[in-house]
Amino acid sequence: MSGEVTVVVGVQWGDEGKGRIVDVLANDADVIARFGGGNNAGHTLVVEGRKVVLRSVPSGVFHAPKPLLIGAGVVIDLANFVQELDELAAIGIDISRIKLDERAHLTLPYHVALDRLGEQSRGKAAIGTTGRGIGPSYVDKVARVGVRVGDLRHPERLAERVRAAVAYHEQRLVDGGVSIDPDRIVDELAALSPRILPHLIDGVELVQDVLARGGRVLAEGAQAAMLDVGFGTYPYVTSSHTVAGGACIGLGVGPTQVGEVIGVTKAYCTRVGGGPFPSELHDEIGERIRERGNEYGTNTGRPRRCGWFDAVAARFACRLNGVGRLVVTKLDVLSGLDRVGVVTSYVRDGRAVGVDQIGDDGVTPEITWFPGWSEDVRTARRIQDLPETARAYVQFLEQVTDTPVGWISVGAERSALIELT
Ligand code: GDP
Ligand code: IMO
Ligand code: MG
Repeated sequence: MSGEVTVVVGVQWGDEGKGRIVDVLANDADVIARFGGGNNAGHTLVVEGRKVVLRSVPSGVFHAPKPLLIGAGVVIDLANFVQELDELAAIGIDISRIKLDERAHLTLPYHVALDRLGEQSRGKAAIGTTGRGIGPSYVDKVARVGVRVGDLRHPERLAERVRAAVAYHEQRLVDGGVSIDPDRIVDELAALSPRILPHLIDGVELVQDVLARGGRVLAEGAQAAMLDVGFGTYPYVTSSHTVAGGACIGLGVGPTQVGEVIGVTKAYCTRVGGGPFPSELHDEIGERIRERGNEYGTNTGRPRRCGWFDAVAARFACRLNGVGRLVVTKLDVLSGLDRVGVVTSYVRDGRAVGVDQIGDDGVTPEITWFPGWSEDVRTARRIQDLPETARAYVQFLEQVTDTPVGWISVGAERSALIELT
């Protein structure tokens, strides 16, 4: 019997609570694997009052002894990763379970510099990246000037590749007034190497062996569908394939090995950085959602833009990912509003337009309104515990995304979850 891969992805613009859900679903998994992104991600878990924010490590840290794989599709900043390992070790996590596919590409200091220069040159059209060098790392991978984690095993090759990459970018760096010493980077990598080598493996072997034994792989996405480089609100996106298909590319599994795709969405919508967000609220309701939902970037601390649930984007994202079930998080944050809105279509000159036109001139969102609820829902553990209006709201989300809701989250704590049968 062969096992299967369950993929968890965000269906909005990130920070939907993917980490929180992966922590719950990890119960049924044999390995938990991140398939893309880098330390632009911030995935938060709260378990019995203990809060952990993960950047590169998969959200299965509280499920010892299950292995945690950082897949080939991830880009990794080793200094930042070692810091993350130390933070986890300090709270008693066995970090020897954390494995890193030797094919993962490195994010190096010149990527961070190029990220900053790129943003400066875009001026008013800046993407609002996390500044972690993620875009330039993926660009180098595709340009075939990247440096891979496995290169650490071959110090001479590593030095050659770092020097070649710095030379490749030299003009841009010099024009931008940035001085990068490749030898210093090589020395820094050499110093980190003893901390990294024990974690290096062939990730494909790990995942495929688990599947061959009939086991289950939980594939954790970073970012979200609307930030996908191919299908998101381009160019205001990240530089990787964040959709469920990215799990195949990022871990080395075939599409036939994927079982279910689970999509995570907030009961409202947020976005960090630039780019179109037509349901954004610029008023006291947006402010209220930000404060109640603690909508500040987990890594960068930036205030997240807040707005109503975008059903057009979410429906598109569910189709794009083949989502089988949705998880609706942060329903508790909406308590106390007189009414709750959902963007149900985009219109130009009286005619509905597609998701690809979000943010275009003359395109306006149409909002459907629902009565709010005043009850605090944080202690609800069964659907019957929710007020009728909140239930009707979730039912509407199902209808409008054409996707069943499998779970409703009503708090950051692991236990604050309603499972629907
Ligand atoms: P991720 O990037 O998708 O893993 O999400 P983040 O961790 O960046 O952001 C989600 C935030 O919401 C975290 O601070 C979580 O602890 C918190 N959170 C997750 N689910 C819920 C929920 O149902 N209610 C509330 N109030 N907070 C939640
Ligand atoms: P998680 O996994 C929310 C956004 C940035 C910026 C754009 C490009 O925690 O959901 P990048 O640094 O990737 O080049 O930035 O993407 N972004 C995220 N927004 N959650 C994330 O990750 C994000 N990762 C990147 O704010 O708009
Ligand atoms: Mg996040």
